[in-house]
Amino acid sequence: MKPKVLVYMRVDERVIETLKKDFEVTCFQNHEYLGDPAFDSALKEADGIIGLALKVTKELLDAAPNLKIVCNVSVGYDNLDLDEISKRNILATNTPEVLNDTTADAIFGLLIATARRIPELDHVVKSGGWNISLQPDQYGVDVHHKTLGIIGMGSIGSAIAKRAHFGFDMNILYHNRSRNKKAEQAYQATYCELNELLERSDFVCLMVPATKETANLMGREQFQRMKKTAIFINGSRGKNVDEQALYEALKTGNIHAAGIDVFKEEPTPKDNPLLKLKNIVTLPHIGSSTTECEYNMSKLAAENLKDGLNGKMPPSLLN
Ligand code: DGY
Repeated sequence: MKPKVLVYMRVDERVIETLKKDFEVTCFQNHEYLGDPAFDSALKEADGIIGLALKVTKELLDAAPNLKIVCNVSVGYDNLDLDEISKRNILATNTPEVLNDTTADAIFGLLIATARRIPELDHVVKSGGWNISLQPDQYGVDVHHKTLGIIGMGSIGSAIAKRAHFGFDMNILYHNRSRNKKAEQAYQATYCELNELLERSDFVCLMVPATKETANLMGREQFQRMKKTAIFINGSRGKNVDEQALYEALKTGNIHAAGIDVFKEEPTPKDNPLLKLKNIVTLPHIGSSTTECEYNMSKLAAENLKDGLNGKMPPSLLN
């Protein structure tokens, strides 16, 4: 009998076809299925799970007695209760590296879109509001030659630094758990404490994973430390930012603007007050969402799954 695999959201169809050769596959691809009896019964039988952002909690694990491996189609794994998973000798994997450049492109794009007010001015043109020359209160701010502070200089943070250094002659500050000598040498990035980074940067880009330590890392005090002319970019996880504090900072002009790819709750509710502000550019968590990158992440997750279920060491094992 073939091992049973539960496919959750956002696994590339071509990859699903390859999985079908080795596994009995049940797909739940398009919306959340928690509480659906068909999902519960697939979970009960599953040897492996592959997908995006399924919350793997103690309760879910209790309902999956045969589970041997959980394969995230993402680099972030804050959806996994890793302690509980490891306690049960279940393997957990993610998809690092394959998304570095794609995510850096998106986050740098968000930074430029926010600085140059691209979505707002696109709307002016499309709504027929381009009657006279642009007014000074519609001008953006420069990106090139400014100071970019990157909080979290991992592989994606480094890919952002590369773009900033080589493409935009930016001066780079960074804060990280440990020094990143490669980024210091290759992109002339300077390590500094968080407060100093916040006070000196024209752009603050948050790229840390979501952990207990980073929850609400950016709160009222941190936004107050930023320059009034500074722009805040969140390319990490919504949990890392106190959204109320961000709202106040934007509303009162304590910071100039923000570009946000991630929210505390996703999809974010329509009445999230942040969405009413003019000086914020938002995206629906699309850092890694290109056709090519989604395929590469699915492919790596499937390799992890196959190796794990065949008793081999998966390429990106987390535990
Ligand atoms: C990741 O890979 O963690 C991206 O943010 C998609 O969730």
